[in-house]
Amino acid sequence: MSESTDAAATVAFPNGFVWGVATASYQIEGAVAEHGRAPSVWDTFAHTPGKISDGATGDVACDHYHRYAEDVGLLADLGVSHYRFSLAWPRLQPSGRGPLNQAGVDFYLRLLDALQEKGVRPWVTLYHWDLPQALEDEGGWPARDTAYRFADYAVAVYERLHDRIGDWTTLNEPWCSAYLGYGNGQHAPGVRDERAALHAAHHLLLGHGLAVRGMRAAVPDSDNRIGITLNLWPVTPVTQEPADVEAARRVDGINNRAFLDPVLKGGYPADVLADVAHITDTAHVKPGDEETIAAPIDLLGVNYYSPSYVRAGAKKVGGASPWIGCDDVESVPQGFPRTDMGWEVEPDGLHRLLVRLRQDYRPLPIYVTENGMALRDTVDADGRVEDPDRIAYIDAHLRACRQAIDEGVDLRGYFVWTLTDNFEWSFGFSKRFGLVHLDAETQVRTPKSSASWYAQVARTGQLP
Ligand code: FCB
Repeated sequence: MSESTDAAATVAFPNGFVWGVATASYQIEGAVAEHGRAPSVWDTFAHTPGKISDGATGDVACDHYHRYAEDVGLLADLGVSHYRFSLAWPRLQPSGRGPLNQAGVDFYLRLLDALQEKGVRPWVTLYHWDLPQALEDEGGWPARDTAYRFADYAVAVYERLHDRIGDWTTLNEPWCSAYLGYGNGQHAPGVRDERAALHAAHHLLLGHGLAVRGMRAAVPDSDNRIGITLNLWPVTPVTQEPADVEAARRVDGINNRAFLDPVLKGGYPADVLADVAHITDTAHVKPGDEETIAAPIDLLGVNYYSPSYVRAGAKKVGGASPWIGCDDVESVPQGFPRTDMGWEVEPDGLHRLLVRLRQDYRPLPIYVTENGMALRDTVDADGRVEDPDRIAYIDAHLRACRQAIDEGVDLRGYFVWTLTDNFEWSFGFSKRFGLVHLDAETQVRTPKSSASWYAQVARTGQLP
């Protein structure tokens, strides 16, 4: 067989492999002032001039709150087994404390009914960055109390919806909430304070652990599965020079191990605490916290987009590195193709990352809960959106997944980011990640060629 035939050979996934797409509440729902929803930090941030590159807000977003039935229809057309979406804390518990807002619960019940009718199973994220503004006003994630507020919210929602939803994750990418939200200020609430970012990271993880414990205690003997989604990178030094190797150790430590180790190994890595000792002491880590954070979980969600290659560099003054304590480390482009985000594309990075998780951490079912690419998609004269580069991206990353499975990784599912183009945080509507094109003015949804390709993959469980 020639090499090209080899590369094109059919790649099949195990029976029962989860095929999904993922979204997040603030990026799609809109209806920000309806039925009792209160502002979140993202409403405040998006309405602050200069924070969102195209001046957009999530006020309407994809109007999913009103058009959820159409969107569930799109999911059914995709043939996905699962739909990963997040619940909006400010819709369910507008002030961040107290009883649930029934109108908010009703919205998600309508969505769950629509999914059930189409045979698509829900996969829920309790927190995808939309902290109630009321809690930010009381100190936000750098304040310890927010962890307890999150756990209370999680338990209240779980008590209400545990019989409708089997798969739960507490947080999406606490790295972003902490380091972009409070470190370099690129995300809401826009704070630039490395110490606050590290405290926020700890309180997010504490909130996760408290929530896992609380949810299990509230509904004992449930078959439901509870986990967390982390955004992770394979970090590679560009040379074997000791300074570059050391730079890679630090970046891997603060970005990956600072989250993985407390959740899966029972405590923070000593080298990482030492690396950031000039930023904060550990007085905010109370006795018992690490045990709480390590509450057993049933699955790990991994979001992967791009690899990380680094070298030791010069200290940047006033730099805005989200790598806390690493603003002397440089990211080194490798000349891989780039997405419209500017992110380098290296599918093997996902393979290396998954294998590393198997080698360095205890066995645990893993799901790729986000992977996808931004492109400048346009609707052509015939009303079609051709996005062969997105098909190639997803195809190559799925091959990397299959390779990881072959090497013993317990990978059980894959979710494309995302269903429709949506409000891409500080980039507004300028970045298109969807399998379905969105005209944000008219709200017209047009499936791209990647949608029919992915539908074939999801239906057959193999790459064509
Ligand atoms: C991830 C986020 C998701 C989306 C993608 C592109 O970091 O979880 O909401 O913005 O990036």
